Amino acid sequence: MTHRIGVVGGDGIGPEVTEQALAVLDALGVDYTAVEYDLGAKRYLLDGTVLPDEIMDEWRSLDAILLGAVGDPAPGLAAPAGLVERGILLRMRFELDQYINLRPFRLPPKADMEVIRENTEGAYAGEGGFLRKGTEHEIATQGSVNTRMGVERCVRFAFERAANTDRRQIHLVHKTNVLTYAGDLWRRTFDEVAEEYPQVSTGYDHIDAACIHFVERPQRYDVIVTDNLFGDILTDLGGAISGGVGFAASANLNPARTGPSMFEPVHGTAPDIVGQNKANPIAAIISAGLMLEFLGEDDAAARVAAACESPQRYRGTTEEIGQAVAQAAAQG
Ligand code: IPM
Ligand code: MN
Repeated sequence: MTHRIGVVGGDGIGPEVTEQALAVLDALGVDYTAVEYDLGAKRYLLDGTVLPDEIMDEWRSLDAILLGAVGDPAPGLAAPAGLVERGILLRMRFELDQYINLRPFRLPPKADMEVIRENTEGAYAGEGGFLRKGTEHEIATQGSVNTRMGVERCVRFAFERAANTDRRQIHLVHKTNVLTYAGDLWRRTFDEVAEEYPQVSTGYDHIDAACIHFVERPQRYDVIVTDNLFGDILTDLGGAISGGVGFAASANLNPARTGPSMFEPVHGTAPDIVGQNKANPIAAIISAGLMLEFLGEDDAAARVAAACESPQRYRGTTEEIGQAVAQAAAQG
């Protein structure tokens, strides 16, 4: 069956790395059609388009979305802060109910883990506002929204993943000693779901301690489940300790499959190296591999994963690395 894949290259190095990810799919003979969308800060600055409702509707019928990166492509071009991040990326995650952000990190023998980040709630929900803006008495609030349903489906996904793979240990990462409401909900939900999975061992770390463990002993972790904001920060650190954020891939999953899932590198638009054939496409390629896995293309997914087993070995330009991975995957 031909997969219909929406492709949003986006800004900065986004289109360059996405092109290489698609080249790997081509080399593997994956049966797909790409539907390209010109969206991002560049597009917004050109004609004011962020994400039209018609495109959002069209996306619902796609099989998957491959995204490069969105954000202001060059200092000084200044789209309003957060406009395309909220208007494209977060809107897509929320409206397509991509409630899991799965981010694997591998750097043998140090790290081999998956961070499962809740992807539709928490501090990202957009709850809050200003009072008396611009005055001396200005107030800004930004709440963290945690629903039992949202927390539980995320925690359940993590336990299912551990139970059905050779990963056997899950840590909840939060800040229950200070965030006593949200933390309590997460902790209770985690402990209750854990009872249904006696074969999975569990642990808990505060987010600040987890940061130390990431740097000093990442072997401690197998699967981590955490909220949206902690997961955002922890996964940049995860990239940094496993060879660099250029190797960090992610899958924004709608496990219920009521809409397409979206696959994107963890890194941003890197405007400082745009157009220089310097960006590492590995994170985008591994993300495309996660997409193949989710689409049931098991052989192609396994080939990409094997070719990216020790991604540090690939050196060269964006195109050279893309070609080398494509070749390794096709032959492997
Ligand atoms: C990420 C990014 C996004 C996030 C930004 C661009 C909105 O940092 O995918 O980690 O914070 O989720
Ligand atoms: Mn991030």
